[in-house]
Amino acid sequence: MTHVADVRDSWSTRTGFILAAIGSAVGLGNMWRFSYVAAEGGGAAFVLLYLLFVAVIGIPLMASELVVGRMTQVSPVRALAKLGGRAWTPLGLLFVFCGLGILSYYSVIAGWTIRYAVDGFRGAIPSDAGDAGAYFNAVGTKLPAVGTHLIFMALTILIVLGGIKKGLERTAIILMPLLFLLLVGLAIWAVTLDGGGAGYAYYLKPQLGELLDPTIITSAAGQAFFSLSLGMGALMTYASYLRSKENLAREAATIALTDFGVAFVAGLFVFPIIFHFDLGGVIGLGDPIADNTVGTLFISIPPALGSLGTMGDLVVGAFFVMLFFAAITSAISLLEVVVTAVIDGWHWSRNKATLVFGILITLLGIPSAFNLNFLAFADKLIGNVLLMVGGLFTAILVGYRIRPQAEDEMAQGLTSPGARRAWVVLVRYVAPPVLILVLVFSIPDLITKFKTLIGI
Ligand code: PFF
Repeated sequence: MTHVADVRDSWSTRTGFILAAIGSAVGLGNMWRFSYVAAEGGGAAFVLLYLLFVAVIGIPLMASELVVGRMTQVSPVRALAKLGGRAWTPLGLLFVFCGLGILSYYSVIAGWTIRYAVDGFRGAIPSDAGDAGAYFNAVGTKLPAVGTHLIFMALTILIVLGGIKKGLERTAIILMPLLFLLLVGLAIWAVTLDGGGAGYAYYLKPQLGELLDPTIITSAAGQAFFSLSLGMGALMTYASYLRSKENLAREAATIALTDFGVAFVAGLFVFPIIFHFDLGGVIGLGDPIADNTVGTLFISIPPALGSLGTMGDLVVGAFFVMLFFAAITSAISLLEVVVTAVIDGWHWSRNKATLVFGILITLLGIPSAFNLNFLAFADKLIGNVLLMVGGLFTAILVGYRIRPQAEDEMAQGLTSPGARRAWVVLVRYVAPPVLILVLVFSIPDLITKFKTLIGI
């Protein structure tokens, strides 16, 4: 038997780790959810609420995940059992379930980005809004969607087969800078659109009244979890491959704020387009957000840009290439949670674990390719509610069960006792009650999505 600990891979540089972690956080969530939830939820006021969640709950919990990963150097499933006792194994298994579940539908959406990038550059996306809906139905569901889902999963599997250094780290080092360049280029291009000013105003105008609405508060919290890759041990898994004793609170802040920055700049691209082309009515601004987020990116924006001729085709192509980069660097982290758990838990080889579970996830994604209501329900249940459940229990573990050990590990890089105290207070006293409240608030929406799924 090989001694897994002897051959365990690791990141080769701090930059590699940070870029991979930012790659996990920055994903489809930044592009298809953030700007919409923000506009619907009170513009600048929402952005501030979101930042508050990120600062008060997101960064402390992310730091907690990093601490657990680095101090144990094993997969979350084993880490939790080792630190908390056997009673914590179910939480580790929940993480693996979330990885399998989220990647299954995430890959379907990511598959669309491949198709749209290719067809965008070719100018093959219809520029008439009505035809664009038919085009989406033709390429975004059923067998064509299964096809692009297969391609995306095959690429994800290939990268994860390469391991931490040669697969995940190398991919992040190449793709993340390209993603930043594309994003900034697109946002600058959007400044040139006439009438875009109204878009910025809509996006950023503070509407304080909305902030008291519980659904808005839940969507800000849920968005923070999904976007920061929190609550399912993704960053815990990444940190288990860290050797150096960096300041993990600072790493968490860097990852979280970069993720926010990308989401924010993506909004600066999306909103001027919506107002320049007067798409507000088409996408139903003012209606419940969830149903039209996919519609905006894939149905309204591409034909509008396509109507600008060659330049428009280039912008559409570049936009979907950027989305694809964002998606694949997140997808590899979702698969890595599962693969690391299987390697560390069952002593399988990386090749076997990646292939077997990669294929299983590919199969699990097929229902989402055939039924968008299934996709929406899976996203709400796993990508939102279960991540918050995972986050709640992570906070309880770190804040109560293993606090002294966790504090010692944190002290390895974070030398200020005051800052450590603040971290502990947020993890112990702020995160659990807020998360319980938010979870209670999110039940009605979950029920609505379930009813839509089963047709009542
Ligand atoms: N953070 C990713 C996004 O915003 O698209 C999604 C995600 C990746 C969620 C990894 C959870 C995770 F563990």
